Parts: sequence; C-alpha cells; structure tokens
Amino acid sequence: MRTQAKNTDRPMAGKPFLRVLNGETVKPPPVWLMRQAGRYLPEYRETREEAGSFLDLCYTPELAAEVTLQPIRRYGFDAAILFSDILVIPDALGQKVWFQEGVGPKLSPLAGPSDCRALQLDAVEAHLAPVFATLRILARELPTETALIGFAGAPWTVASYMIEGGSSRDFLRAKAWAYEDPEAFGQLIEVLVEATSRYLIAQVEAGAEALQVFDSWAGIWPEPEFRRWCLEPMAAIVQRVKAAHPSVPVILFPRGAGPLYEDVALECGADGLSLDTTVPLGWARKRLQGKVTLQGNLDPVRLIAGGEGLDREVERILKELGEGPFVFNLGHGIDKSTPPENVSRLVERLRAAYVTS
Ligand code: CP3
Repeated sequence: MRTQAKNTDRPMAGKPFLRVLNGETVKPPPVWLMRQAGRYLPEYRETREEAGSFLDLCYTPELAAEVTLQPIRRYGFDAAILFSDILVIPDALGQKVWFQEGVGPKLSPLAGPSDCRALQLDAVEAHLAPVFATLRILARELPTETALIGFAGAPWTVASYMIEGGSSRDFLRAKAWAYEDPEAFGQLIEVLVEATSRYLIAQVEAGAEALQVFDSWAGIWPEPEFRRWCLEPMAAIVQRVKAAHPSVPVILFPRGAGPLYEDVALECGADGLSLDTTVPLGWARKRLQGKVTLQGNLDPVRLIAGGEGLDREVERILKELGEGPFVFNLGHGIDKSTPPENVSRLVERLRAAYVTS
C-alpha cells in the first residue's frame, strides 16, 4: 500500500506507465493488454512458426524480443511485457514442461512431497539466462516512452499446474493435496516463493522497470486458504523484491479474489492491483484506488465483439477509474480470436476520449 499519493496537478517527467504506478493520475491513462503478444497477431504466428516450439520461442532471446515488440509497433502501447510464460519456473526447477498444440501446457505432474524434494532451486537463474538476455535486448530497443514489464506466476497458480500436470477445471488434485498435507504443500509454495523472488530480482537487474505477478487461479479458495496460499506468498515475494530493489513497482493480479482484493491492497505492499473483469468499479474506486494504482478490467470478450458496445465500455471504465491513478487493461488475457482491428479501435477511443475534454 502506498503511504502518500502524489500531486497530480504538475505532471512529472518520465514514462506515463511508471508515473501512474508511482501514484500520479495521467490522462489519458497509459494502456497495455495482458497477453498483448500472441496468436491473434499474424506476425506473432509467423515468428512462432519460425521458432518451432513455444518454449523455444521463450528461450530464443532475439525471437522473444521480436514478439514482445510486435504489439508495441502496431498499437503504441505504453508498456511492453516480456514475452515468456509463467511455466518457465517449473521448467527451471527441473520439472518437464511442454506445450501441446491445440491443448495447452503439459507437465509431468508432481506425485507428492518426494517429487518436490527433487526440484532444483540452484539452477533457476542459469536456466533462465535467455529470458534475461531478452530483457537486455528490449531495454535497448524499446521506444523511450515505453516501459518494460517483467513477470512471473504467483506460487499457487504455478503449483496448480505442477500438481495437475496442466490446466484444470476444478483443481481437485492440487486442492486435495493442500488440505490433506498442508505442510508438504507449504514446502512446495516456499520453494516457489524463493525461485520466483530470485527470478524477478534478476529480471529487474536485466532491465525490467516494473513487475507483474499473475495469480490467475486465486479465486478458487475459501478465505483462510486464499490468505495462506495466495496472499501471504505474494506478500513474501513483494517483500523480497523490494528488499533488493526498493523502487521497482509491483502489480499483483489475484484473479477472482472478490472482496479479498482489499486485503491484498492493504497487506501485500504492492504498488498496483490488476482487477479482473468481475470486480465492480464503484467499489474498487472507493475501497482500493486511494491505496494502490488500479489496472483493468475490460472484459476480453468485449474486444472480440468490438463495435459501439466496446466504445461504451471503454467510456464507462474511464468514468469510474480514470480520475485516479489508473492503467487501462483487460480483466484477463486477450483471446486468440480477437480481431486485431478491434485493438486499434480500443486504443484510439481511449486516447480520443481526452482530446475534446
Ligand atoms: O502477456 C504477454 O503478451 C506476455 C506473455 C505471456 C504468455 N503467457 C504467453 C503465452 C504471459 C504474461 C503469460 C502468462 C500466463 N501463462 C498465465 C497467467 C495469465 C493468465 O492468462 O491467466 C498462465 C496461466 C499461463 C499458462 C499458459 N501458457 C496457458 C494456460 C497457455 C495455453 C493457453 C493459450 O492461451 O494458449 C499458455 C501458452 C501461451 N503463453 C501462449 C502465449 C502467447 C500461446 C502459445 C502458442 O503460441 O501456441
């Protein structure tokens, strides 16, 4: 939580995205979109083809930098997010990870605590060296006004893939493990807190100017487990990152946290919160925006549908959140069926909304 909001009358110099995370209100608000690099862009599909596998794309710095830059060239977003995936952490810890065409991520699932003991924390930074090389290229090549975001998955979300062996509808295995053997599950979470903190610190040292932590599946827990497996690990990561780099802004995305977004705002020490699509904006403005910078939360399906419905929704979000520190974004990642021209329409509307007023 921020202790003091900045004066908004005299804008400071610097990248708009970073100024807003520092508590300023900037009009029009800076904009970027979760999963802005991806299959909805023909140029991404071409580079992806060239790379071979998805992980090869993540681990080839020139190509990963290229796909990071593609949406910046097309749309002039205010921030570029490193092209990688949250599952490079289990990969770096020694768990087998692959991406199956048309299916999604696959991992050879952890069977229990003995498998966790085989995870190799020591190899994390060396294994992820290509990611740091990507960031160094981007720090050099991005336009001067564009901020560079590094990211990682939150421990619970990453653990869920490690235990389930891929995406899951109900998280039965992962949740049952946490309920049956919280001590062993806690050890896995602790390994992930450590690996993720080191990884994020190294990203800052390679040129990331802000960090986002994705807890995409935070919304499936009762409150006590949400605190133990989502909020506390994220708070620990923020604390470790800030101990190494006090001024680097951190955004948390506890998707589905509902009213517990407020606890995250108060207790995690983050600079920004990314709101999922279901968070009511009047509530967010009153309860959260004085404490942290807000980011969000256009329904990604609005971007598929496009048209005047999209325009009206952009206006509604701006009206609700645009008078405080705010970053325009989606409530979840952009879908692969999104027409690229609807993204242009969004960015144009957002910036045009401030031309006449
Ligand atoms: O935002 C960006 O443009 C940066 C890159 C990025 C990717 N994944 C690239 C990607 C980021 C920030 C992520 C985060 C991520 N990955 C999350 C958290 C955010 C969220 O969406 O909830 C999660 C849960 C994952 C795990 C993951 N990776 C899944 C479930 C999938 C398959 C679903 C899908 O969209 O294909 C991936 C693959 C993936 N990660 C793709 C991209 C561009 C598509 C892979 C391809 O090109 O075939």
